[in-house]
Amino acid sequence: MRKPLSSKWIKLPVFALCLVPLGQLAWRALHNDLTANPIEYITHQTGDWTLIFIVITLAVTPARKLLRLPELIRFRRMLGLFAFFYGLLHFSTWIGLDKFFDWTEMLHDVRKRTFITAGFTGFALMLPLALTSTAGWIRRLGGKRWLALHRLIYVTATAGVVHYYWLVKSDVRKPLFYGGLVALLLALRVGFWLVARRREPAGKALKPTLTTAETG
Ligand code: HEM
Repeated sequence: MRKPLSSKWIKLPVFALCLVPLGQLAWRALHNDLTANPIEYITHQTGDWTLIFIVITLAVTPARKLLRLPELIRFRRMLGLFAFFYGLLHFSTWIGLDKFFDWTEMLHDVRKRTFITAGFTGFALMLPLALTSTAGWIRRLGGKRWLALHRLIYVTATAGVVHYYWLVKSDVRKPLFYGGLVALLLALRVGFWLVARRREPAGKALKPTLTTAETG
C-alpha cells in the first residue's frame, strides 16, 4: 500500500477522481439533465461536494496516523484546494445564477439570512487557507503560525455544517451526520495532541518546522 502511495504518478488519478463531480455536472448540463430547477441542483451539488472535500481533507491526518500511512499527507493540499474549488463554484453559482450579480440583495442576504451568513463565513475563511497553501507560504509564515492559521479549517467545517443545518427545512439527518463526522475528526486531533504531549519530555515543546507544518 505504501509503495503506490509514494509513486510520483499517484496524484494524477487522485486529481482526476476529484474532478468527477464537476464532470458529472458538465455531463448533465450538456444533456439538459439538470432537473427542473438547474440552479438549485447546481447549488446543492457544489455545496455537498464542498462539505465532502472539507471532511476528507480533515480526515487525512487522523487516517495517516491511525493507518500508519505517512504518505497520505501528499494528498492533503490537493484535497483542500478541491474543497476551495467546489466552494468557489458554489459561491459563484449563488452570485451569478441565483442573484444575477445584484450586490445590494447579496449584501442584504449575507447580513440578514443566517444560513447565508454562516456559509459566507465558512467560505471567507477558506480564502487565506487556499492562498497560503504553498511551501513558500509555510516558509514565509513559519511552521507554528502556518499551523495556527490552518486550524481555521475546523471553523470553516463548523460554519459549513451550521450553514447546512440552518438551511434544511425539516430533515436534519444529513447536516447532523456531517456535524458528527467533523466532531469526531476534531476529537481525534485533540486525542493525538494529548498523547503527543504526554510522551514529550517536560519543557521540551515541539518547535514546528516546514516538515511539521506539512505533516500536520
Ligand atoms: C464552507 C462553505 C460552504 C459549504 C460547506 C456549503 C455547503 C452547502 C450544502 C451542503 C448545501 C446543501 C446541499 C444539499 O441540500 O444537498 C448548501 C446549500 C446552499 N448554499 Fe452553501 N455552502 C458554503 C458556502 C456558501 C456560500 C458562501 C453561499 C452564498 C453566499 C452559499 C449558499 C447556499 C445556498 C443558496 C444553498 C441552497 C439553499 C436552499 O436550498 O434553500 N453557501 N451549501
